[in-house]
Amino acid sequence: MSTHVKLSPSILSANFACLERAVRDAEAAGVEWIHVDVMDGHFVPNLTMGPVVVKALRSLTSLPLDVHLMIEQPERLIPAFAAAGADILTVHVETCPHLHRTVQQIKELGKKAGVTLNPATPVASLEEILPYVDLVLVMSVNPGFSGQSYIPTSTDKIARVRQMLDERSLWHVELEVDGGVKPANVAEVVRAGATVIVAGSAIFNDKASVADNVRAMRDAIARA
Ligand code: DX5
Ligand code: ZN
Repeated sequence: MSTHVKLSPSILSANFACLERAVRDAEAAGVEWIHVDVMDGHFVPNLTMGPVVVKALRSLTSLPLDVHLMIEQPERLIPAFAAAGADILTVHVETCPHLHRTVQQIKELGKKAGVTLNPATPVASLEEILPYVDLVLVMSVNPGFSGQSYIPTSTDKIARVRQMLDERSLWHVELEVDGGVKPANVAEVVRAGATVIVAGSAIFNDKASVADNVRAMRDAIARA
């Protein structure tokens, strides 16, 4: 594994009354991306933010906005998220009967296209779409909430996606992992082949500053 591992802090764990502070602290701490969790109360049992919040975040930072769409019929809102300033739009394979069309829609809007799968969805569901995507996101918790525990079998799943990408020489495709990643387990996630780490509660919490939490993650990654 060659590349520098990127950190994409999930602002879902931040204080929503002070989102600006969260983004500025994360940027000052040197993170590469900002992860934005969009939930519709249907595909997942929680409701979060929409394009207006992405637009507000866009005005705060020039870091890539990594937008994770946990919504049914994402094709209806993809143009609005693109216009709001998202850089990467990631859809769930479970929500897209015409996944290839949805990925093309994202690319035609000039954005990077990601696909993601729930913990119980097999990696085989990625096989036909891999040549068309910029990013694969492996969910290591059932999506809906931050602060859940990493599902241990995710490590083997990440390794199997890594193998699928390597076998196809898809070196440019980012392999992102989301859910329950902490300093204590990030090394195994990186060793399995992840190139982008999402972290919510490990970065935004009451125990330490964002800068200290980012440093703890980087130190743990360096030991991978
Ligand atoms: C879960 C979200 C995650 C979550 C990560 O549905 O997609 O991005 O906020 O939070 P932690 O790192 O606390 O699991
Ligand atoms: Zn997410």
